[in-house]
Parts: sequence; structure tokens; C-alpha cells
Amino acid sequence: MAEAQLINGRADAAVAPEDRGLTYGDGVFETIAIADGQPRLWDYHMDRLLEGAHRLGLPEPPLATLREEARYLARPAGGAVLKIYYTRGVGDGRGYRPPAQPEPRRMLIRHGLPAIPEERWEGVDCRLCQVRLSAQPALAGIKHLNRLEQVLARSEWHDPAVAEGLMLDPDGLIVEGTATNIFAVRGRTLVTPPLAEAGVTGVVRRWILAQAEALGLRVEQRGIRPEQLPEMDEVFLTNSLIGLWPVRSVASRELPVGTVSRSLLERMAEQRLTPLLGQARGQP
Ligand SMILES: Cc1ncc(COP(=O)(O)O)c(C=O)c1O
Repeated sequence: MAEAQLINGRADAAVAPEDRGLTYGDGVFETIAIADGQPRLWDYHMDRLLEGAHRLGLPEPPLATLREEARYLARPAGGAVLKIYYTRGVGDGRGYRPPAQPEPRRMLIRHGLPAIPEERWEGVDCRLCQVRLSAQPALAGIKHLNRLEQVLARSEWHDPAVAEGLMLDPDGLIVEGTATNIFAVRGRTLVTPPLAEAGVTGVVRRWILAQAEALGLRVEQRGIRPEQLPEMDEVFLTNSLIGLWPVRSVASRELPVGTVSRSLLERMAEQRLTPLLGQARGQP
């Protein structure tokens, strides 16, 4: 349930059923953590939204207005989730062809925090999904509104003990989780898939890559095969809401939880990247 919303700046506006975000998934979105009444990693989220809008040929999102509206919705909430949807607006009834003069629609919705068991930050069990991510360089990296591959993958399991499913590309290399990016550490090397053909370039992924040097880690962007996971010293998953979950098993094969995950979690908590992490660590 939404706690509050603004649709093109209005709390009481409705979305037209012809909105191309709804009919074709023609738009982009962001899921933003709010901690202490402030949207976190805002600039990273806006960079990805801009890149997505640019790639889809949408009019440039009004960043100053989005910031103002996001602050307005975030202010009353200590910890919350802010979703921003930016669509091409209503079509002109001519099918897929985008209207020559689109009137984009922005929707900002504040939700309460999800309830997540605290032990997930100690380590999670994952599975391998059957549904594969298709290769599509034109859409890879951006957070567009077509998420059917993830919907199918997330429908594959109902066991609450399984926290996340890993998704493979057509060649069988791991791309990411259904709603998370994946990292592995081997020695002093941090490995993460390149996401040039599939996947979402997460804002937390970007934050982690920016920390690597300070942690004395060399970054390698390459695909990982599921059978290579047991060779890794540690594996972890990231997104804006959870921050980071260490992975303790994939498809019942156990993996060690290591020190890189722990130091990144500490840095995230210090920087208040997500309110869930603060809660999980016993902070107010
Ligand atoms: C498919 C997918 N990949 C990766 C991510 C992680 O992105 P971020 O770090 O920006 O939250 C998400 C977030 O929901 C996602 O849905």
C-alpha cells in the first residue's frame, strides 16, 4: 500500500489506462531507500534514470522537480521506500510508434519498509533460476519497466528460506539476482558481471565499485559460472533496500561468509545507505 504519492506533482491525480508505461512498459523506474527522511544515493539513481530516458528516447526527466518532490515525500518518514516511475505518458492510439510530442508522466510513491528477517544480513541461501535473462545490449544496464523475466524467475519458488534466485544469461553465466547484483571475492580481486548484454547496473553496485580501491581490491568485470562459485572466498548480493547480503549457499552448496562483506556492511551502516541496515544492526 502506498503511504503517499505524487503523480505529475498532484496527490489526487489518476493514471490514464492508456499510459504507455502500463501498456508497453515504456518507461524507467527507480527504487530508492529513504533513511532519516532523506533519499539515499540520489545522484546515482538520477544518473541511471537519465541514462535510461536517453536510451529509450524519452524527454529528459525534470531532475530539479523530481528532487523537490522526492524530498517532500521523504521528509515525514524516518525510513521508507520511494519509487519513481517515469513513462512516455499516453500514446496516440497508433501502436508501438512513440508519439512525436510525448507528454511524459512522473509518479513518485512512498511505501513503508518491508519486513525482512535480521539474519539475512548474516548470510542468505539462494537458488539458480530456470528462466534466463535474454541478451539485449540496447536495454542492458537501465532500469526499464519491462520486468517479466524477473517476475517469471521470482515465481519459481515459494520457500521463504530461499532469499534470492540467481539468473543466468543464454551462455549460462550468472548475470545477477532477480532483484540484486552479485559480487564474488577471490583473493584480493572483486569480481562482478559486466552487464553489457543483460542486467541492471545497480546504484549499490556502483557504490561498491567506488569502495574497492580503499579496501585494497582489484575489480574484474567478468561472468561467473555457477560451478565456479565454490572457488570463491565470498559471494554477496546488493541492492538499494537491503544494502548487502552475504551468500552462504547457492543451490544447497555452502559458501563462506567473509571479511569483505562485513567491512562493506559496516561502511554502508556508517553512511546510512539504507534504513534496513541500521535496524538490522541495532541502530535507531
Ligand atoms: C533486476 C535488478 N538488478 C539489480 C538491482 C539492484 O539495483 P540497485 O542497487 O540500484 O537497487 C535491482 C534492484 O531492484 C534489480 O531489480
